[in-house]
Amino acid sequence: MKKVLVARPTFPDVIERLKQYFEVDVNEGEVLPQDEFARRLADKDGAFTAGDVVGEKELAGAPNLKVVANMAVGYNNFDMHAFDAHEVLGTNTPNVLNETTADFGWALMMAAARRVTESEHFLRAGKWNKWSFDSFLGVDVYGSTLGVIGMGRIGQALARRARGFDMRVIYHNRSRVAPEIEAELNAEYASKEDLLKRADHVALVVPYSKESHHTIGAAEIALMKRTATLTNIARGGIVDDAALIEALRDKRIAAAGIDVFEGEPNFNPDFLALENVVLTPHIASATEATRRAMANLAADNLIAGLGEGPRAGNPPNAINPGVLRK
Ligand code: DGY
Repeated sequence: MKKVLVARPTFPDVIERLKQYFEVDVNEGEVLPQDEFARRLADKDGAFTAGDVVGEKELAGAPNLKVVANMAVGYNNFDMHAFDAHEVLGTNTPNVLNETTADFGWALMMAAARRVTESEHFLRAGKWNKWSFDSFLGVDVYGSTLGVIGMGRIGQALARRARGFDMRVIYHNRSRVAPEIEAELNAEYASKEDLLKRADHVALVVPYSKESHHTIGAAEIALMKRTATLTNIARGGIVDDAALIEALRDKRIAAAGIDVFEGEPNFNPDFLALENVVLTPHIASATEATRRAMANLAADNLIAGLGEGPRAGNPPNAINPGVLRK
C-alpha cells in the first residue's frame, strides 16, 4: 500500500477517504517543524499539505514521493522548479473557494470603510454614552470606485458583487481579461498607478510570487486617496506591512482590512496599536462548506495523482501536468 503524509489536521471523513487507498500518517498536532515535516515525508509516496513548505531539500529527501496536494489555491509554499526537477506532481484547490473568499473580501472592505470592528471595540470597552453626529464617520462603499488588483477568478467574483453597490469597477492584472468578462463586470482596465489614484477601495487578489512581492509599498500607498481603503485577501508579502502600518498611523489612507501577513502566523505587532485596520487570521476561505470542499478536492488530487480512485492518473488540479506525461 502506498504511504501518504497528512501534514496538518483535517476533516476526519477526508482522512477516512484517504485510508481507503493508502497507509496514512496523520499529524494530529501543531504545525510540524520543518525538519520533522521532512523526516515524516521521507518514506512517503504522497502528501496532503496546507501551506507547508516543500522545496528542494524536502523533495531530495523523499525519493518515493510522487504527489503533493496542497489544500489551498495558492501554492507559493511549493518550489515548482524543484517539483519539476524531481518529477513530483503538485496540485492545488482552485475554484471551490472563489465565492466564499470574495464574500470575505467584501466583509473586510466594508468593515474597514464603516469602522465596524473599531466601533465594536469602543462599545465593548463601555465607552458608549451618547449618540453623536460625528461618531465613527466612515467612507461610503455604495456608488464609489472599486479597484481590483488581480482579476483572476476570485477578483472577478469580488468585482461581480460591486454591481449591487452601484460601483464603478476598475482593475489591474498582468493581462487584460476577455472583453466579454470586462463587459459582464462592467470593469475597466487601468494601469496600477491609475487604479491606485482613482479607486476609493483597493482590493488585492494577486497570487504571491517574486514579481508580486510588495505590489503595495510606500510609493504605491502615496498614490492612493486619503479616504481610500486597502483590502488584502491575497497573501502576506503582497503588501509591505511596515509601510502600510506607517501609512495607517499617519492617516495616509483611511483604513485597511488585512487577512494575510508577512511571516504569518507571526505579524508585525505594530498593527495592534492601530484603530483603522481590521485584522483577521487568514480566514477568507473559512466556511465549513468551502473548507470541506477544499479538503475533499485536495484528497481527490492526491488519490488520482497516485493512480487510485475513479480519476486514477488524471488529478483535477495538476499545477505541473508535464510531470504526469513523463
Ligand atoms: C488559499 O487557498 O490559497 C487560501 O489562502 C488558503 O485558505
